[in-house]
Amino acid sequence: MENKNFTKKVYIETMGCQMNKSDTERILGMLSHFGYEETQEPKDADLLMVNTCSIRQLSADKAYSLVGVWGKWKSDERQKELQGKPFRNIKIAFCGCVAQQDKEKLLKRFPYVDLVFGTNNVYELPDLIKRINDGERVCATNETPKKFTDGEEEAKYEIKRAKSLNAWIPIMEGCDNFCTYCIVPFTRGRERSRKPAEILEEAKKAINEGYKEITLLGQNVDSYGKKLDPERDYDGREVTLANLLRDLNKIDGKFRIRFVTSYPTDISDDLIKAVKECDKVCEFFHIPMQSGNSKVLKEMNRRYDRQQYGEIVKKIRNTFENVAITSDFIAGFPGETEEEFLDTLSAIDEFELDYSNTAAYSPRVKTKAAKWTDKFIDEETKSDRLARLNEKNREACIKSNKKCVGKIFEILVESFEEKDNNIILAGRARNNKIVHFAGDKNLVGAFVNVKITGASTWHLRGELI
Ligand code: SAH
Ligand code: SF4
Ligand code: F3S
Repeated sequence: MENKNFTKKVYIETMGCQMNKSDTERILGMLSHFGYEETQEPKDADLLMVNTCSIRQLSADKAYSLVGVWGKWKSDERQKELQGKPFRNIKIAFCGCVAQQDKEKLLKRFPYVDLVFGTNNVYELPDLIKRINDGERVCATNETPKKFTDGEEEAKYEIKRAKSLNAWIPIMEGCDNFCTYCIVPFTRGRERSRKPAEILEEAKKAINEGYKEITLLGQNVDSYGKKLDPERDYDGREVTLANLLRDLNKIDGKFRIRFVTSYPTDISDDLIKAVKECDKVCEFFHIPMQSGNSKVLKEMNRRYDRQQYGEIVKKIRNTFENVAITSDFIAGFPGETEEEFLDTLSAIDEFELDYSNTAAYSPRVKTKAAKWTDKFIDEETKSDRLARLNEKNREACIKSNKKCVGKIFEILVESFEEKDNNIILAGRARNNKIVHFAGDKNLVGAFVNVKITGASTWHLRGELI
């Protein structure tokens, strides 16, 4: 299969979460084996791919309209072909969560789409590409996950990582929680975990290649290992995120370890202990709360209430000095009253959340809450609540950032920008805050100490020391 004589170009647009970014790196790795080289320029590509997200209607619509534009290009090329002019033989592929959800419907709706493949079919890509290049239109969307299950080698395919300092490493995939608003259990299947030895191997490789940070990925990363067997899959120790962090921390070299996304009640005391013990693991927790009101949380089928969420946050804050805790919130969940919404705003204040992703509720097919149409909140109220939620988040961020002024943070320098003959470096602190400071562009990739001198809403300013 080895064929590094690139003959074709692929452009891939990645939407959605880090899991999709990581899948894209694996897809590109596989494609590189049969002659496809990545291009950043869609107009040059023979194969146009969109790796989609269906968490909200808005994200799905973005993919539909992008594919529409590509379809137009394809028919323009077809015209050239008919006129005997030079033309590109464009192929269009749809993958990711929308593909997994819509299946054949996509081929019907978009007659110019050649390939639809779901989150469980990435391993079949060599065959799928061959078939579309032979002129077939193909839909491959298995319901049964193959990734991280016994006998499946997908995780071992070559990875073509994005040019950055961070290596994404998926450690578990899928979700068994079935929150009433969420499509993920339908697009990613049941929860399964990758074996520790495989993860350690991939991490060591990334560090050897010069990556300065590894980020462990999972829809509920902190429930890692639940279905693995300590005797069969580990050295008899319990298979948990905490133990995995301890093992990763022993890898030689200067690098950082992060993990996302955590489900609140799966953050065990041992996990907090492991983060504390392990010098490479960063003091940063992304713990989506979704709503500040216990009744709404119950309707969402979240397995905690406001008080329990608060207790977890308190435990973390009592353990680490400069920790950041970030969250996700949904505004306008079906049946949410004004008072219940105000509880979300007050939760951001009470738990001093450092940053939150926010969204208006978007009904998703197959999910429970999508059937509660009589309780739907009208669009105007939803967008009004979202605006107030965003304003509260902005306030919280600036408050959180101001607390950092005067402190000294270790920064991993990620990029630089030239502004009026000055070089401004941008990097991240262990708590994930972005810091801008003057310095030499050779410092990109280095760890440096920076004294924080100023705070804006979305980033900090500092001076190299
Ligand atoms: N597993 C994570 C969340 C993953 S989905 C957790 O349980 O916390 C990422 C975020 O998208 C969610 O935290 C939620 O805030 C948002 N989201 C999911 N479904 C949504 C929907 N139907 N409408 C609006 N936002 C949604
Ligand atoms: Fe979705 Fe809930 Fe699973 Fe998170 S825990 S992925 S919100 S179903
Ligand atoms: Fe979106 Fe799928 Fe991730 S729905 S958020 S890309 S798991």
